[in-house]
Amino acid sequence: MTNTAWTRKDLLGLEDLSREEIELILATAETFKEVSTREIKKVPALRGKTVVNLFFEPSTRTRVSFEVAAKRLSADVINIAVETSSVKKGETLIDTGTNIQALKADIIVMRHNCSGAAQVFAQHVDLSVVNAGDGWHEHPTQALLDIFTLKEKLGKIEGLNVTIVGDIAHSRVARSNIWGLSKLGAKVTVCAPKMLIPAGFEVFPAQVTHNLDEALAKADAVNVLRMQFERDGQTAFPEQMEYFRNFGITEERIAKAKKNILVMHPGPLNRGIEISSEVADGQNSVILEQVTNGIAVRMAVLFLVAQARDRKNAIANKKRPRN
Ligand code: CP
Repeated sequence: MTNTAWTRKDLLGLEDLSREEIELILATAETFKEVSTREIKKVPALRGKTVVNLFFEPSTRTRVSFEVAAKRLSADVINIAVETSSVKKGETLIDTGTNIQALKADIIVMRHNCSGAAQVFAQHVDLSVVNAGDGWHEHPTQALLDIFTLKEKLGKIEGLNVTIVGDIAHSRVARSNIWGLSKLGAKVTVCAPKMLIPAGFEVFPAQVTHNLDEALAKADAVNVLRMQFERDGQTAFPEQMEYFRNFGITEERIAKAKKNILVMHPGPLNRGIEISSEVADGQNSVILEQVTNGIAVRMAVLFLVAQARDRKNAIANKKRPRN
């Protein structure tokens, strides 16, 4: 599959992507990973393009990673701090988008607390829109960097057993991982207390269990989710110590799992709540490698959506009658 096979100007989620499209992003990321090892960590692929980071929710990893990725592709990057923007004066999401478009930006990377926000946004602008996390819905680049890391470490995705443990109910990372991993042939198991598995979860291609030791026994990798106290996590599971006892990833639990099980976490970590420090910083952990791989994956996504948008614009301009 060549890059012309990527036709989407936006990346909104993994549910709609084909296996081939996901594989193309991963293959493109592999070629970009080398750029970060150079003395001058830059290629001219997006020279002249402007990328705007528009984050309506806090972020460390995703926002900085997109900024680093865009700069390594030689794009100009603008970070909009929503707290000091005209959103605070009541400007709507769509008006914010159309104004950024009028400022001739090319790509908006958007995080929003509402599920579906990125999709609505993309329908109203000609810019490329990259979803950096929308409510509980999807966080596609996080799942792509998780999958990239798995593939790099274990050599394949097909046939792997991946357990996702924790606050499934509130997790866009879980949803994107389930779509992405299952399309590539992995078997996904989610493990959480009953109140953290949302109603209607049967539509997802994943097995559900409430027994962590059982889930870990067969897992090649465990992706540990943060308890999202800011999204009702407190009411869903008020007893943090009880949660840690039953669902926390500890050295004792990892000792009973497969010897080389990979321990992943999208961050930010709640140490002592969903994972112990010994495991987070231990030899099975690839948590910081996930962060590093996020740069290559986001370079690939920015590059592919920008190319697709350019091609669409070129075709539209050709069709336009000349005066
Ligand atoms: N994994 C992730 O989305 O982290 P941030 O919230 O820091 O961006």
